[in-house]
Amino acid sequence: MIIAIDGPSGAGKSTVAKAVARELGFSCLDTGAMYRAVAWRALEDGVALDDAETLGRIARDCEIAFLHESNDPMPKGVTIGGVDVSSAIRTSEIDRAVSPVSAVPAVRAALVKQQQRIGRSGDYVVEGRDIGTVVFPEAPVKVFLTASAEERAHRRVRQNVDRGVGSIDYDEVLADIRRRDDHDSSRAASPLKPAEDAVRLDSTGRFIEDVIEDIVGLAREKDAR
Ligand code: DC
Repeated sequence: MIIAIDGPSGAGKSTVAKAVARELGFSCLDTGAMYRAVAWRALEDGVALDDAETLGRIARDCEIAFLHESNDPMPKGVTIGGVDVSSAIRTSEIDRAVSPVSAVPAVRAALVKQQQRIGRSGDYVVEGRDIGTVVFPEAPVKVFLTASAEERAHRRVRQNVDRGVGSIDYDEVLADIRRRDDHDSSRAASPLKPAEDAVRLDSTGRFIEDVIEDIVGLAREKDAR
């Protein structure tokens, strides 16, 4: 069974997806990490971010794999071409590079195929932007999770402090989030938009535990454990 969770960056998808998966005994697939891994490889190789052909080749040819600790369904990290890029894909450089990379149709085609293969191998909570619309349109549970841009920027600033990676400027983060939202929802290939049959949840001002409970409830209605 697939539970699809889509929405803009910073809406709380990762936290929610992991908690829902743990609660139901599902695995978790972070599709954003795959686009990030391709962007990382491209920057490493000095590939121009408008070189659609080479970007498509990277997505097709470089194997992306998720690292698991013995029997834990929750991946601990991600590799591309055998290189562990778990931390390297979480920098602001990659934040900026990944939008143009994920807009390339050949990149999307290659990664969607891999995502479908992984998702069909078991019970998965899959998070991304186009899971309910393109990757698993037949998913019985689809959630479109949002939060205001301001709240997402505040969360991002707090997350950086918690991770100990230094402070970042709130206004800069907010501008970055708005730019990325614009880019992700206006691109021609799979723009970010809710599936018609998605349940829309707004996490602004809500406890994340309550959002998690809502989604677990939706899944149980569909007979997930
Ligand atoms: O969720 P994230 O911030 O890690 O996603 C990184 C980028 O990849 C973001 O710009 C949107 C894009 N993305 C996408 O286009 N389709 C997906 N299914 C997942 C992510």
